[in-house]
Amino acid sequence: MTDALATLYRLLYDGVLSRLPEPAAVAFGQTALRLLPFDRLGAFRLDDPRLAITLGGVRLPNPVILAAMYYDVRILGRAMGLGFGAVTAKSITTSPRPGHPAPNLVRVRTPAGPGLVNCNGFANPGVERFRAAVAALPHRVPLIVSVAGESVEDYVGLARALGPHGDLVEFNISSPNTKLVYAWSERPAELRALMQAARGATSRPLIVKVSPDFADVNERVIIPAALDAGVSVVNYGNTRRVAEPRLSQGAGGLSGPEIFEATLNNVRRTRAAFGDRLQIIGTGGVDAPDKAVRLLDAGATAVSYFTGFITRGPILARRILEALLRRA
Ligand SMILES: Cc1cc2nc3c(=O)[nH]c(=O)nc-3n(C[C@H](O)[C@H](O)[C@H](O)COP(=O)(O)O)c2cc1C
Repeated sequence: MTDALATLYRLLYDGVLSRLPEPAAVAFGQTALRLLPFDRLGAFRLDDPRLAITLGGVRLPNPVILAAMYYDVRILGRAMGLGFGAVTAKSITTSPRPGHPAPNLVRVRTPAGPGLVNCNGFANPGVERFRAAVAALPHRVPLIVSVAGESVEDYVGLARALGPHGDLVEFNISSPNTKLVYAWSERPAELRALMQAARGATSRPLIVKVSPDFADVNERVIIPAALDAGVSVVNYGNTRRVAEPRLSQGAGGLSGPEIFEATLNNVRRTRAAFGDRLQIIGTGGVDAPDKAVRLLDAGATAVSYFTGFITRGPILARRILEALLRRA
């Protein structure tokens, strides 16, 4: 059944979705997610107590997380019934942002498989509208709220406003598409102050999401500073910055299987360097069950993905969970 659904989705993706212009494919996918009650079909889920983990002190029914991309609570609610152990909302900023003009998302065919390059630029409704919407969202599985800003005050205010509506709070300091966030890794000393201030702003467990483009500074400065501030979960990581002339900004963040090997190495190195003091979410390039297994074997506490949700469909989470049970 699972394999049949995976094959069906691959036919839909290769035959239809990957041939539509990107904006039309995005609109089609998001409309389908909003309208069709896939989450009521048990086929996408797999409940088994052997899969449960604890992340930042919060119990997740399994270690497979939907990475940050959606802020529409209808989609977040739907995703909570599609097998994930937690769902991450898109990064929210203090004020609403339209994001970068189109084209802001293109597909890429990489040697490792289909990927995306985006320069979304944090299109989001801003904290007040998002807070009103998310307050009504039931948490069938834990919700990770993600925040992004350009000052310590931004992060503190966002954590204070959204903390009560999330089970964990993720600090995005790594999206490569705006100076807004990407520049934090170039100012690691200020980042230390940021994490300390933010720690006091919410009682929720904190996650810091780092960039694969700054491995040295992450492991030398940012992760130790996070641990000192009481942030013991690292999401490693975000997209990799690449030149992409088709995008309005001439560059964007690469996601999908081309970045998987780097994710694996980053997780393995970080686990070896920090041992049990840290929990690690491995993100970047997971689009098949064996990749999730390899990340967990390399020391990840949990894995998350977004591009695989698009290219391999909503059945991927269940296929990963089946592989984890076979290995249990
Ligand atoms: C269109 C798009 C929008 C994204 N928006 C966010 C965001 O708001 N915040 C964030 O932390 N990551 C964002 N990401 C990054 C993903 O959460 C993830 O870290 C990245 O895509 C690598 O994982 P993947 O290869 O499984 O997609 C976005 C990715 C894409 C493709």
